[in-house]
Amino acid sequence: MAYRALCFGLICVIFAYYIYAPIPENVEEPWKVGFIDAAVKTTSFLCMLTENMGLIRQDQVFSTFVKVDYTSPVSDSNITVTDTTFDGIPVRLYLPKRKSDNKRPAVIYTHGGAYVLGSFKLRGYNFLNRETANTLDAVVVAVDYRLSPEYHFPIPIEDVISAVKFFLQDEILEAYGVDPTRICISGDSSGGALAAAMTHLVQNDAEFKNKFKAQALLYPGLQIADLALPSYQDYANGPILLRKMAIELGSLFITKDKALSQAMILNKHMPLESRHLLTRVNWSTLLPEKYRKNRLYTQQVLISNSSYPQILNSTLSPLLASDSQLQNVPLTYVLTCEHDILRDDGLIYIARLRNLGLNVSHDHIEDGVHAALSLTRFPFYLRVGMRMKDKYLRWLKENL
Ligand SMILES: *[C@@H]1O[C@H](CO)[C@@H](O)[C@H](O)[C@H]1NC(C)=O
Ligand SMILES: *[C@@H]1O[C@H](CO)[C@@H](O)[C@H](O)[C@H]1NC(C)=O
Ligand SMILES: *[C@@H]1O[C@H](CO)[C@@H](O)[C@H](O)[C@H]1NC(C)=O
Ligand SMILES: *[C@@H]1O[C@H](CO)[C@@H](O)[C@H](O)[C@H]1NC(C)=O
Ligand SMILES: *[C@@H]1O[C@H](CO)[C@@H](O)[C@H](O)[C@H]1NC(C)=O
Repeated sequence: MAYRALCFGLICVIFAYYIYAPIPENVEEPWKVGFIDAAVKTTSFLCMLTENMGLIRQDQVFSTFVKVDYTSPVSDSNITVTDTTFDGIPVRLYLPKRKSDNKRPAVIYTHGGAYVLGSFKLRGYNFLNRETANTLDAVVVAVDYRLSPEYHFPIPIEDVISAVKFFLQDEILEAYGVDPTRICISGDSSGGALAAAMTHLVQNDAEFKNKFKAQALLYPGLQIADLALPSYQDYANGPILLRKMAIELGSLFITKDKALSQAMILNKHMPLESRHLLTRVNWSTLLPEKYRKNRLYTQQVLISNSSYPQILNSTLSPLLASDSQLQNVPLTYVLTCEHDILRDDGLIYIARLRNLGLNVSHDHIEDGVHAALSLTRFPFYLRVGMRMKDKYLRWLKENL
């Protein structure tokens, strides 16, 4: 009893400490953002203690919390919602009920969560995908994939490939009444990397006859090659997404070996042979001055003892794709948040596509915070998340 009271007291003290962390001035509902931010920081701090005692890992704690928010498939008067599998991969389907003489557009959605957390079952994603189906009169396919640290790269991406390949078959699109020329792939955060990697694959591989009309990347994380971009420097302590926590969780996509996450935190994890690839994330040339704020990009220390050649793979870091791979990218929508370590991943991707003369639509949310699209349902409701949802759906409605 005394032990529990002590623990509870400790949690309160840590929470009280973090709740005073300053929240950027222009953020809407600062007390709510501050509360969520303090909850994340407290959890992350306690995880550091328990992990060091060998009790429970950070990813296990976060995924336990996240699972509380899972929903089951519930149909309503407009949309039939079912959980099924595509080639063995779990998907949640949203099928509009109203009769239609024309074929419908489709949206494939890959969720975020640093490859270690989450599911299409999360309340926020379930809401977003249902709204997408309803607003666009579209078929929505939300894809789950096996998560790290149990399954490392490339298994999660291969799961997404299997589901997408299954869905893009003529007879399957026909069966769901989908117009093969109106398919978009969307994803947020690490799911944005999965979506972009899928786009690069589908558009460049002759094996895929049906291509994407569009891709929508929502505060995407698109690379792990440079973890000291200006946004990583400016927002290392959040709000909500912390640099160290994001790297520790994200590194599990590659390995459980802590040596890698420690090297990544120091930004000393890229092998010597990546030198030529790093020009693709050189933010001296690819980031507007407004975000560089007079800082100059100097190439990070490259190491000779990397055990992880997959770090160079552009399926893992879509920003490392070559110009010729990017050349075939379809109409693209990118949403970035100002107060987000991943801001510059999105901005650099936009710059690379625009340098190639490609058509990119961009919404930059000046008061945006990471993960807000997942925070659109009680009890974690942020109005900025609803604004992002509206912008994303407006773009889809006009372009898909
Ligand atoms: C069904 O669609 C109509 C028209 O778009 C909308 O007004 C209504 O709120 C929708 N119902 C649900 C349950 O989403
Ligand atoms: C990158 O990873 C993908 C997915 O597993 C694989 O198909 C591809 O061959 C890899 N590319 C390189 C250059 O190793
Ligand atoms: C490479 O070697 C350095 C120095 O021995 C070590 O600190 C680092 O953890 C190693 N990096 C990896 C990725 O193993
Ligand atoms: C980045 O680009 C700038 C401008 O072209 C160039 O001067 C610099 O050498 C590049 N940095 C690296 C590390 O490639
Ligand atoms: C980009 O796409 C939008 C929407 O399809 C279109 O209105 C616009 O004209 C295009 N811009 C360019 C430069 O192609």
